[in-house]
Formats: sequence, C-alpha cells, structure tokens
Amino acid sequence: MLARRTLLAAAVAAPALSACATGMSGSDNRASLPPLPHDPHSHARPDEARVLHVALDLRADFERKVLAGTATLTIAAKADAREIVLDVLGLTIHSVRAGGAEAQFVVGESDEELGAPMTVQLNGARTIVINYETSPSAGALQWLDAAQTASGKPFLFSQGESILTRTWVPTQDSPGIRQTYEARIVVPQDLKTVMSAQMLTPNGEAADGGRAWRYRMEHPIPCYLFALAIGDLAFRSTGPRTGVWSEPTTVDAAANEFVDMERMLEVAERLYGPYRWGRYDVLVLPPSFPYGGMENPRMTFATPTIIAGDRSLVSVIAHEMAHSWSGNLVTNAVWADSWLNEGFTTYIEGRIDEALYGTEQYKMAQILTWVGIQNAIRTGPPDVTRLHLIGERGADDSNGNIVYGKGALFLRTIEGIVGRGAFDVYLKSYFNRFAFQPMTTERFIADFRENVVRGNQSLEAQLQLDAWAYGTGLPSNAIEPHSDAFDRVAEQVAAFNGDGAASALPWSSWGTMERQRFLQTLPRTETRARLDQLEQALQLNETGNSEVLFDWLSLAVANRYEPAIPALEHFLTSQGRGKFVRPLYAALMRQGAWGRTHARRIYAEARRGYHPIVVAAVDRIVTAR
Ligand code: BES
Ligand code: ZN
Repeated sequence: MLARRTLLAAAVAAPALSACATGMSGSDNRASLPPLPHDPHSHARPDEARVLHVALDLRADFERKVLAGTATLTIAAKADAREIVLDVLGLTIHSVRAGGAEAQFVVGESDEELGAPMTVQLNGARTIVINYETSPSAGALQWLDAAQTASGKPFLFSQGESILTRTWVPTQDSPGIRQTYEARIVVPQDLKTVMSAQMLTPNGEAADGGRAWRYRMEHPIPCYLFALAIGDLAFRSTGPRTGVWSEPTTVDAAANEFVDMERMLEVAERLYGPYRWGRYDVLVLPPSFPYGGMENPRMTFATPTIIAGDRSLVSVIAHEMAHSWSGNLVTNAVWADSWLNEGFTTYIEGRIDEALYGTEQYKMAQILTWVGIQNAIRTGPPDVTRLHLIGERGADDSNGNIVYGKGALFLRTIEGIVGRGAFDVYLKSYFNRFAFQPMTTERFIADFRENVVRGNQSLEAQLQLDAWAYGTGLPSNAIEPHSDAFDRVAEQVAAFNGDGAASALPWSSWGTMERQRFLQTLPRTETRARLDQLEQALQLNETGNSEVLFDWLSLAVANRYEPAIPALEHFLTSQGRGKFVRPLYAALMRQGAWGRTHARRIYAEARRGYHPIVVAAVDRIVTAR
C-alpha cells in the first residue's frame, strides 16, 4: 500500500557528511565502512549537535487529551555549534531554557508529515529544558475515553514508528540518532503506566493530583522506540523474564496465548546471542491498536486480534521479539532501508517459528510471503519492489510484501547458498559487532562481502547481492518455497471447484495457515450458492480467528455476499488494525453503490474508535471516487 504524502525534505540536498567526521558518533568509528546517509525525514543536523539523552517529566491530562511538562535534553555538539535542530509536529512550546537561562528558539514552517524544525540557541549550554504540551490530535497518541475500553477507564497509548515521536517528544526524530531516556509520568490515581524502559516504581509514588511512575532506558535507542501506555493495567507472569500486561479482562487470555515467549527468547538467544534488554513483556492494547505488534524495547505493544484462543497467531510475538536484535540493536539508519529492520526480522521470526512449531509451519508461512511478493511485483510500480528504496518517499511509503517478504527471502537465499551454519555464525557476529548502531544496505552488503564472500568470485556470482539489494523484482536465484500441506489444500480447492461439498472439506484438521490458503486460492468470483455452502459448513462469519475472518470477508465483499455484512460490520467496528481495516474498506469501495453505501455507513460508526493513522488512511479510501 502506498500512502500519498507531501514531501519537502527529500528535495533538500544534504551534505553527505558522515557522523564520524565530527567525532560525536559514539561507536561508529569503522573507517572501512561506507558513510551514513543524510536522513530526509528529519530536520536534525546531527553532525553539528545531537541529542544523547532525553528526560521526560510529563502529566497526562485525559480531559484535555494532552501530555504536558518538560523534556530535558542532554546534547553533544561541536565546540563551535551555536544551535541544535530538533523535530516537532503540533507541539506547543511554552519556553526553553539552556544551561539555566531562558533560550531563544524558532519553530520553522511545519510540513504535514515531517513537522517543523525547532532550532534552539545553545549559548554554550549542553543541556536544554523544553516546557511544552502535545496537541489533542498528536499522530502518535490515541486517547480512549472510558466508554471505549473494556475496563471502563480511560486509556492512552503512543506509537512512534516511523516518524511520529515528534508529535509527543521534542527531540531529533531520526533512527540513526540513538538516545537513552528516562521519564516521570503523572497519571490519574486509579491508572497505571508502562513504557519501553525499566520501571523504577512498580507501585507508582504519590504526586500532586495523581500518581507518578518513573522509568529508565539505559541503552541508546532510536526515539521511534520511545513508548508509553496508560490505563487500567494488570500483569501476568509467563516466565522468569517474560509476562503480559493488559486491561484486566484480557490478561488471562493473553497469558495463555503467549505461554511460549520464554522458549522463543531461548531460541533467538541461541541463534543470535544474548537478549540484551533485561525483561521481555507484551502489552496487549485495546482493539484500536493500529498494528499487529510494535517492537518497543522491553515492552512489545500488540493488538488483541492475535489472541485466537489456539495460539495460532503468535508468530507476531516471535516477530516483535526478533526485533530485539534486528531493529532495536542494529537499526536502519534511514527509512529507505527499513528492510534491514523488517526483512531481517521476518527471517528471524521464521527461524523461531520453525524451531518451536516445525518446518511445515515455516514452509507454509514462506509460501504466504511468496504470494505477497508476487502480488507486489505484478501490481506495484517497479521502483517499490526494491529493498533499498530510492527517490522521494514518505517514511512509510514502502510495500510490506517487499520490505518484509522480499527482505526475508533475500536472507533465506543467502542461507541456502552459504549454508545455514555459516549464515547463523555471520548473523550472530553482525548483531554483536553492530549492536546499538545504525545500519545501511550499503554497509550490510560491504560487511557481508568482507566477512563471508572474501573475494570468492563464484560465490559472489551465485549470491547476486547487488541485484537483491538494489534491483527491482526478484533475482534469478530466488527459489519458490514448497509445502506438502499446501499441496493437500490445493487438492481440496480443486475438489470444491469441481462440485465437491463444503461439508467434505477437512476444515477441522487444518490450522490457520491452511484455512487461509484455502480461502485465498478459491476463485475470486463465487456464486451465492457456493458461499452459502461454505458459510453453512464452516461458520466463517463466526470465526474468532482474525486472519481467517479477514480472508473470508475479503472473498465475501468481492462477491457482494450480503449474509457476511453483519460479521463485516462487527469486525470493522470492534477492532482497528490497519492491515485488516484498510483493505476491507478498499474492497467495499470497489463494489459500486452497494459497497460504497456499506463502507460509508459502517465507517460513520467505526471512525471514532480508530487510531489517527488508520483514520487518515481510511478517510482517503472512502472519499476517493
Ligand atoms: N515495526 C513494525 C510495525 C510498524 C512498521 C509500525 C512500520 C510503523 C511503521 C512491526 O514490527 C510489525 O512489523 N508488525 C506487523 C506484524 C508482523 C508479524 C508482520 C504488523 O503490525 O502487522
Ligand atoms: Zn516488524
């Protein structure tokens, strides 16, 4: 899915100054590596002055839907640097102090996506205190009223990736600029908070007009991983290092669903080295959470739609956990290289799933991914089928099938050629050597050549590294995955197409992916009678599995199948995960007056419950002609 966005900054030619030129780049001192690129999605000029640490002291005002207080930034700057440039979007800045005195600052013109540069005069200071508040429409924040949550108490959560942290924290919002952080958050008396950081006050502490909760993240992280949630939160332990948080009504179901987290961690550690973040907990959010999961360090944020009751959708947790290495330890320096986060993570997710649930599961997931890649190549503009994205693009204007799917397929192709043992050794050393550092496609390829290819010309020719990293489509050494289980599904599709009865399908013996495969490979045009048969035999409208329901509803909408409308309406008004919501509205809009009427009626009711990111996307879908 391509989002349309205005984009100014990519046009601003940037000096290709590497951060190490200023000697302020921390551990990035490998002279042999290609330089780090300029980030077109940030106004920061990190080679002059960069943020090292952010200390937040914020109060959550649920009446006004604002966070208000101070951000104290610790800065490293060149000796002659006069100012620091931050990213802000929609923040109201009350005052700035630098080194104890009132400081001059200017907020420049604001772009819808990129926000504005905020330039602060340093006057020699290396600490600044910004007194500010967020806007009620901050893109990173969703404020839920009491009526919108299961507990009947208000809720707030943040979602920073890719470039939304600037709507709640005035800092340098670029994934190559790592920052440690600490926070003190004051909330109403009866609410708790969690953050992507170590909790210092497990019971909170008394504060004016509420309770205060304090946190510290001692590792430098990109600020898209700063994260906060406030609500009626309960906790259940699932192991020595793992547990789940959520509103009380879902916490037991979540703990039961995610029992394997500790084992997942063990698998990942055995492959890629120690888990460096201390605890790994999952916060299950209210159903409006716009993503499947978000890899906030120490505290993955997740949608409740992965709680299927049978643990069949927990690969989302494996995925977010895998980001503890790919993404959170070694991070894409710019969003044009987001495949380094997501493709690596999808590859590791598969390895964890395979170790826990077997090779057949892994194969099926690979095929679903393969289909996605082929769709992207068939339908998308060729430029969007590159891993390293080129040209002027919004930070989230990538195609998931490519960034996740082609990215993972690239690594599986390398694995197949160099051998699993050798590739595992390489990846483990990659995560160790580049821990807490930014990464680029160019650097990864150079490092892989230096450590694995080592001038071996035939290996080089076999790998086609440049074609994978920079080319469109799929290189000729891509191998289509195969699954016996899916062969058996194909036989059933053929039987059903040849007038077999839906009641004869081995549905109850199939897992989630086989069911998905069945629904995805049925002809897109179906008769009312055949859909009736499927519904009667399989009770698809009632399924509690969000992935299967999504595939069923997609098929139903494509055929204007009226009996699925109540289920569709319920699905679209009871959760707001973008991956499900956007395509279903788009599918409705393709179905003439019938679909448009349903889309607009359902959206009128559902919109207020959706996250700002999803609202923006669906607004565009339902108003398009
Ligand atoms: N980091 C992503 C979520 C994300 C990506 C947020 C880009 C904002 C911009 C997360 O790790 C993710 O990939 N989530 C997936 C689940 C995964 C199993 C494919 C999702 O949300 O569906
Ligand atoms: Zn991811």
